[in-house]
Amino acid sequence: MKILVVGSGGREHAIIRSLSQSKRVEKIYCTPGNGGISALAECFDVKATDIEGMKKLAKQLAVDYVFVAPDDPLAMGMVDELNKDGIKTFGPRANAAIIESSKVFSKALMKKYGIPTADYEIFESYEKAIEYIKAKNSYPIVIKADGLALGKGVIIANDFEEAQQAVNSMLNERKFGDSSKKIVIEEFLSGPEVTVLAFTDGESVVPMVSSMDHKRAYDDDKGLNTGGMGTIAPNPFYTKEVEKEALEKIFIPTINAMNKEGRTFRGCLYFGLMITPQGVKVIEYNARFGDPEAQVVLPMLKTDLVEIMEAIWKKRLKDIDVQWHDGACACVVLASGGYPEKYQTGKEIVGFNSDGQLDDSSSYVYHAGTVKEGNKYLTNGGRVLGVTCRASTLSESVEAAYRACERIKFEKMHFRKDIGKKAL
Ligand code: AMP
Ligand code: GLY
Repeated sequence: MKILVVGSGGREHAIIRSLSQSKRVEKIYCTPGNGGISALAECFDVKATDIEGMKKLAKQLAVDYVFVAPDDPLAMGMVDELNKDGIKTFGPRANAAIIESSKVFSKALMKKYGIPTADYEIFESYEKAIEYIKAKNSYPIVIKADGLALGKGVIIANDFEEAQQAVNSMLNERKFGDSSKKIVIEEFLSGPEVTVLAFTDGESVVPMVSSMDHKRAYDDDKGLNTGGMGTIAPNPFYTKEVEKEALEKIFIPTINAMNKEGRTFRGCLYFGLMITPQGVKVIEYNARFGDPEAQVVLPMLKTDLVEIMEAIWKKRLKDIDVQWHDGACACVVLASGGYPEKYQTGKEIVGFNSDGQLDDSSSYVYHAGTVKEGNKYLTNGGRVLGVTCRASTLSESVEAAYRACERIKFEKMHFRKDIGKKAL
């Protein structure tokens, strides 16, 4: 089988590594890819959002499947367009990817079908939003841009000034363009957060091993929100009881709701959950694998990812028994100093062999923002690497990942020192 993977981050590297372990795979292509991915897949320079370019490339390479990993091309309908040309895919169509690309849609879906989530209102008018915040007079209050915003569209305002500033930047200054034409203002929830990714073909839903992201830039959850500074799997707060509740009240109802709306979801559905004192609630849905959740969840997958991809395409997911490894996995993200704000790129990464990996290490390094120039690897993004280790216990996996981090260096490298601490 020949497979083309769309995207260029650590998540795509993890997907490609899993696919490459399948006996059924002959060749993997990736576009645009990155320095580390190029050790496993032939990379091209078609942009992840270039639908026409992707169709052409998929035909030219005569691939069996295109695996669309990032949110933008899914929301733009890349899967729909590839399918129209008879190309098989992994990932939802645009009418289902909207569960991520519009929070106004996903909140209304949850309200209509009684799926537990934070109470909310939607606003397009600055004056009405401010009036509402004043009337509520309860902080923190959460303000979210409707559309995709690179993981930066959520503001937790601790007082009226912060709330006003957030509403002004989104509705008046259009900080996120059309993504912040509408906003959601919702109640602040508290409790441990859990990510559960799930395979679904629209009929069955197969939750994967749970995970924990670390979204803030600095230790002890300080600093700005990022795309994710590290992950562990499984998440110990996700007990058997919570799992049962989530399956009955959230996972199955969500799949059914999407079917009833004529928006059958096929692919990987991401459930961002919060375990509140009032029960499990949905914080957000994503229409794809999380990044860096994929980097810890996919190494735990025992079953062939290609088998799962095919079963989803054929709507036969119920026929396969998806199995997982015991133990745990941890991923520590090495970021460019300054990320998620301004940072420099083009710094040489020291410590790698010619494949962009560490010799004699139990860890695997997923490349996120790197480029290979000759035999050198250079930084090329905010999140640069995800150093990952699977071991028999969480503490072993965390310790081994941190030992591996000490062997990698680049100028102004920054990483959190407390990944997994809350779970140990
Ligand atoms: P999102 O991009 O929707 O995942 O939001 C980013 C982060 O903001 C989440 O991971 C939560 O930590 C936090 N967050 C979002 N919504 C709420 C809420 N209603 N209450 C408390 N925290 C929230
Ligand atoms: N790590 C969060 C996300 O992928 O959206």
